[in-house]
Amino acid sequence: MTSRVVLGVSAGIAAYKACELLRRLKESGHDVTVVPTRDALRFVGEPTWAALSGRPVATDVWDGVSEVPHVRLGQEADLVFVAPATADLLARAAHGLADDLLTNTLLTARCPVVFAPAMHTEMWEHAATRANVATLRARGAIVIEPASGRLTGKDTGKGRLPEPAELFEVATRILAGAPSDLSGRHVVISAGGTREAIDPVRFIGNRSSGLQGYALARTAAARGARVTLVAANVALPDPAGADVVPVGSAEEMRKVVLEAAGDADSVVMAAAVADFRPADYQGSKIKKSPGAEPEPIRLTKNPDILAELGQRRAPGQVIVGFAAETDDVLANGREKLARKGCDLLVVNQVGDGITFGQADNAATVLAADGDPVTFPRGPKEALADLVWDLVTARLE
Ligand code: CTP
Repeated sequence: MTSRVVLGVSAGIAAYKACELLRRLKESGHDVTVVPTRDALRFVGEPTWAALSGRPVATDVWDGVSEVPHVRLGQEADLVFVAPATADLLARAAHGLADDLLTNTLLTARCPVVFAPAMHTEMWEHAATRANVATLRARGAIVIEPASGRLTGKDTGKGRLPEPAELFEVATRILAGAPSDLSGRHVVISAGGTREAIDPVRFIGNRSSGLQGYALARTAAARGARVTLVAANVALPDPAGADVVPVGSAEEMRKVVLEAAGDADSVVMAAAVADFRPADYQGSKIKKSPGAEPEPIRLTKNPDILAELGQRRAPGQVIVGFAAETDDVLANGREKLARKGCDLLVVNQVGDGITFGQADNAATVLAADGDPVTFPRGPKEALADLVWDLVTARLE
C-alpha cells in the first residue's frame, strides 16, 4: 500500500544514512517528501534529496506559500520519520517551536511521529536532552534509542543512528499499523543460544539462531519500547532501538539479564539457555593421547534464569518464557509455566528442522491467568506481536 511519508532530516553527519532509508521507502512504493533543516543541507545537498525522492525539497515555510506547505505536509502524512534527529531538533520539537518547515510539519502532523536521534553520547545523556525525549515520548512520539558504537571522530559510545535497513523495518511496521503501546516501557529480551566452554576452543552449544528473539526486539522497538537485547552467539544485524549486549555462556547471560531486569516492565527469555555446562573447564586445549579412550565430560547444572526472574520479579513486571517440546507439548508446557513462575509461556513443538533458523514458527501461548492462545504457523514477527499483545494486556 502506498503511504505518504515525510522524511525529516536534521543537521547531523548521519544524514547520509537517511539517503539509504529514503531509497528503501521509495522502492517499497511510498510517496516520500524530504524536509531537511537548513543546516542538514550542509551534510547532504538538496539535489540528492530531490533526485532520490522525485519531489521538490524545501526547508522553510516561504517556498510555494500558495499551497500552504507548512500545514498541508503534516496534515496529509501517514508517517513523519525524523532521521537523524539532533539534540537541537529534539529540543525544538519538545518545546513546540515552529521556526522552519520541519518543525511546522511536526506540529500539524496527527499521524505517528518517529524520531531517530543521533549525536555524541554526552549530548544524548545530558539532562536537557533526557527531558526533551521524555516530553516527546509522553506525547506519544516514538523516540528510537540510538545504537552504540563508533561515533564521528575517535569517540565510541551510545549515539549512533541505527542502520538504515533497521530504521526501514521500524517505518514499515508503523505504517502497517503497529500500536505505540510499549512507549515509555523497558523490555529485556534474551536471544540466541548459550555456549558452555569445554576448553579454550570447544564448547557445548545448540541450534538457536536468535531469529525469534530478534523479531521480539524489532516489534517491541516499533511499538515504542526501550529494548535491551541480550544476545548469545547471534549473527544478525542489531535491530534499531535495541541496546544489544552480547554474551557467551548461561552464567554471563544470567548476570546481564538479572541486572537489566531491575527496571524492566517485561522480560522475555527467548534464548535457548544450556541447562548444563562442563563441570571442569580445561584451561588448555584437550589433546588426544594416541591409543587412549577419550575422557568423559562431566556436567554440572546451570542456574535457571527464568525461574530466578519469576522469584525476584518486581511488582507488575511481566515475565515470559519459551519452551521447546517434542512430546506432550501442552502438558509439559503447563507444568513448566507453573514451575518457573512466569506469566506467559510460549510453547513450540520442535523436531528435525522445525523452527530453528526458519522465518516461521508455530506455537501455543500458555498464560498463568487465562486460556491458552494458539498461533498457527506464521512469521516469527507475527508471533512476536502476539506476545506483546498479551504482555501489554497484563501491564498496568
Ligand atoms: N531457561 C533459563 N535458564 C536455564 C534454562 C532455561 O532461563 N538455565 C529459560 C529459557 O530461556 C526458556 C525456558 O527457560 O525461556 C525454557 O525452559 P527449559 O526448562 O530449559 O526448557 P527445556 O530445556 O525445554 O527443559 P526440559 O529439558 O526440562 O524440557
